[in-house]
Amino acid sequence: MQTIPASCERPIGVFDSGVGGLSVLAEIRRALPCEDLLYVADSGFAPYGDKPAAIIEARTHAIADFLIARRAKAIVIACNTATGAAARALRARIDLPVIAMEPAIKPALALTRTGVVGVLATSQTLASHNFVELMGRFAAGANVLVQPCPGLVELVEAGRLDDEATRARVADYVVPLLERGADTLVLGCTHYPHLRPLIADIAGPDIAITDSGAAVARQVHRRLAELGLLASRRGGGTARFWTSAEPAAAAGLIARLWAHGVTVSQLPSFPAAAR
Ligand code: DGL
Repeated sequence: MQTIPASCERPIGVFDSGVGGLSVLAEIRRALPCEDLLYVADSGFAPYGDKPAAIIEARTHAIADFLIARRAKAIVIACNTATGAAARALRARIDLPVIAMEPAIKPALALTRTGVVGVLATSQTLASHNFVELMGRFAAGANVLVQPCPGLVELVEAGRLDDEATRARVADYVVPLLERGADTLVLGCTHYPHLRPLIADIAGPDIAITDSGAAVARQVHRRLAELGLLASRRGGGTARFWTSAEPAAAAGLIARLWAHGVTVSQLPSFPAAAR
């Protein structure tokens, strides 16, 4: 177990396989306006969803170490796929708080009127031990339909949030769930909230759409408060960005999904076998 000193003025480190985790970062910023935030978009390695778990785990450790070297006081895995592949191993190795994703199945089951919930996620997430365990905990006996969504992460990474190809792909995944009676959709991948307007347009006004970003932000707040690690300053927190893709291209998409005028730096390359 690696022991790292933590203090309240340190930043919170957040990462994802790409820009998906910005949907979580936005909720963290809303819940914790005074905190400094570090964000790594591992877009050069996206999508994680079609990679072996061992590679995702190696990337997770390497990125967490990068954030810890920049004095992160907590690590947020803003990626369902990396959560399934690596959250357990990361928690066993470092003694900072590690906050990770969990598809919003429980809230969705509280919302549904038809009793049918549809979960959109990557194949890796749906096959993960975490997901199977989550289903066992909350969905035993419930009608929860799962839909892997290959290709959606790549479309979001390309900034194609509302073109015809994206609309067709989203419809291919969403319409069969609606035809089977789902009235509540769970966005089980942090890239998908960037497609929420399109998904809502295809699904129509009677379909509820849930994701876990706000719940994760509340959990970050709770963990930091428990540990006495909330920032004590009054001023607005900063945000810094790194990408493993080409920074100039990434800056355009991050500006669109987060805020204009951000600087995006190059993530250094890590050794192939990170550990
Ligand atoms: N945002 C990631 C997630 O929540 C996408 C995974 C991928 O890159 O395939 O699962």
